[in-house]
Amino acid sequence: MSDRRGLGTVLLRVFRYRNGDGAPRYDEFRVPVGPRTTVLDALLGVRRRQDPTLTLRHSCLHASCGTCGMRVNGQEVLACVTRLDGLGDRVVVEPLAGAPVVGDLVVDMEGFYGRLEPSGRPLLRASELADLERFEDCIECGLCLSACPVVATDPHYLGPAALAAAGRLLEEPRGADREAVLGWVDDAHGAWRCHAAFECSEVCPAGVDPAGAIMRLRRRLLRDRLSRLAGLHDREARP
Ligand code: SF4
Ligand code: FES
Repeated sequence: MSDRRGLGTVLLRVFRYRNGDGAPRYDEFRVPVGPRTTVLDALLGVRRRQDPTLTLRHSCLHASCGTCGMRVNGQEVLACVTRLDGLGDRVVVEPLAGAPVVGDLVVDMEGFYGRLEPSGRPLLRASELADLERFEDCIECGLCLSACPVVATDPHYLGPAALAAAGRLLEEPRGADREAVLGWVDDAHGAWRCHAAFECSEVCPAGVDPAGAIMRLRRRLLRDRLSRLAGLHDREARP
C-alpha cells in the first residue's frame, strides 16, 4: 500500500502489556515506511500520532546506548538501526525475552545487570563521566540474553554477556581477583551451562561474540583443571 507521498506502509503488530492487565495483547498500527525508516522511527510515530500510551525505551538512536533492544519478527535487534523496508507487510514487534515486561516493549534489566555485577566490572573504561562508564565493546543491550535458549530454562545461568565479561577479565585482569572470577564462572550455571547454540553471537550488535568468548573460557577452565591435577599428581608421586 502507498500513501500520497509514494511511501509504502507496513502493518505493525505490537505487543502490549501493562502491570495489572490480565494478559498481554497485540495492537495493530499501519505506519508509513520509506527506505530509511527504522522500527524505532515507526514506533515513535505511532506514539506521536496514534497511541501516546505505547511504552518503549531508547536514547542514542545510533546503536550505542543499547536501550532499544526488542524482538522484530522474532529476532533480537536494536530498533534504532533496524530498517522496516524489506521486513514484510506485517511486522511483529515484541519485548526482549527472558526478562519481566515492565510495560509494552520495555523489560526490567535488573536480572541482566545482576548477572554482570559479580565481575565487579573492573574493565570499565576510564571516563570523566563516571556514571556513563561501561564494559568495553558490550553496550549492555541484553539481546544476547533474550536470544539464549538456555536462559529460558535456567534462570540462574550467568548468560552470554556476563561470561564474555569474565573471559575478558581473565585475559586482562587489571587488578581483578582471578581466582574469584574462575570460581564465579566454573560452575553448573556458568560456562558449562552453555549449549553452544551461538544465538547470542548472531544477535550481538557490538561484535562481542559472547559464544566464542564462552568457548575460550571453557578451554581456559579445562587447562586450569588439568594443571591443578598434574600438580597434585606430581606431589603424590614425590617420595
Ligand atoms: S554481549 Fe552483545 S548482545 Fe550481549 S549485552 Fe553485550 S552488546 Fe548486547
Ligand atoms: S537507541 Fe541507543 S542503541 Fe538504539
